[in-house]
Amino acid sequence: MGKIQDLIILEKDIIDNIEKSLSLSDIEKIRISSMGKKGAVSLLMRELGTMSPEDKKDYGSKLNNLKNVINNKINEKQTILEDLGIEKLVADEKVDITLPLQKTTLELGRIHPVSQVMDEISEIFSDMGFAIAEGPDIEDDYHNFSALNIPESHPARQMVDTFYLPSDDENKALVLRTHTSPVQIRTMISEKPPIRMIAPGRTYRSDSDQTHTPMFHQVEGLVIDNDANMGQLKWCLEEFCKIFFEINSINMRFRPSYFPFTEPSLEVDIGCSKVGNELKIGGNDQWLEVLGSGMVHPQVLRNVNLDPDVYKGFAFGMGIDRLAMLKYGMSDLRSFFDADLRWLKHYGFKCLDIPSLSGGLSK
Ligand code: DAH
Repeated sequence: MGKIQDLIILEKDIIDNIEKSLSLSDIEKIRISSMGKKGAVSLLMRELGTMSPEDKKDYGSKLNNLKNVINNKINEKQTILEDLGIEKLVADEKVDITLPLQKTTLELGRIHPVSQVMDEISEIFSDMGFAIAEGPDIEDDYHNFSALNIPESHPARQMVDTFYLPSDDENKALVLRTHTSPVQIRTMISEKPPIRMIAPGRTYRSDSDQTHTPMFHQVEGLVIDNDANMGQLKWCLEEFCKIFFEINSINMRFRPSYFPFTEPSLEVDIGCSKVGNELKIGGNDQWLEVLGSGMVHPQVLRNVNLDPDVYKGFAFGMGIDRLAMLKYGMSDLRSFFDADLRWLKHYGFKCLDIPSLSGGLSK
């Protein structure tokens, strides 16, 4: 009878411990100390062998019963603790997605309008199948002038005020590139036609007033193919202007002009209207010059070993800063480069609003 009494005490003891346990590892310890190989219950099971058959029957069934009770209790408690763990985890990781965004540096920073406009231009021309090309800011005389059909004695050299640099080790005359057109030459030398590329970048001229700064930005465009023609040039530029200025129709004027590297050469104006003090793109009150363009001069093609009887090309170049001023209504170019945070806060763009044709160019 004493043994049975012991069993009742043992059961109560173990059950108490299970109930008091606070973690899955507590439960595991109890399982080992009671049901493990050397656990309290297992040791009692071993004693069965030494008992008389009647005692064995009676005591054995009590022991089995105890085993079941303990196992059930352990499983039950285990489930409760596991559920609690998940609930705590969920509670800890809870975020209130309705709270306003915290102002991180990403939120505070601004994209400069020039970078924004470069991204917008790249997005538009990429969609038309143009690749983006690059060239160096420090350019040699050959790429900046000679290869573009502007030989040394040519009056066009005086058309711009060039920053000259000391010659390089090979005695090559160096300049800060006065336009992005040398990237045309570099691309035609390194790539085989058909070519469709734009090259946005920095350009330099010794010039400074309300609409000129010594460093400014241009984007060059070049298409070389067997049958590139003026109709395609006109279509590309018209499409570009409509998409860029985010309007459905635009008046454009193509005026004959002169650039040494194109023949014929065209200057392109867009129609604007005056609304109060503001100049709006669209309408035809006034013409605004926005870019230069033309059919690539046969001599330029020959300079890069392309046969003008086989290949034709068209090219264009525009001032990015000027496009930015027109689109976003900024009147003084010099403030672009003042690094004034108040100006940037006002005219800048949010970093995460990347221009896209599907999502909106300027939002
Ligand atoms: N490079 C010229 C400039 O800086 C602009 C230009 C005119 C580029 C005609 C072209 C072009 O590609 O075809 O004034």
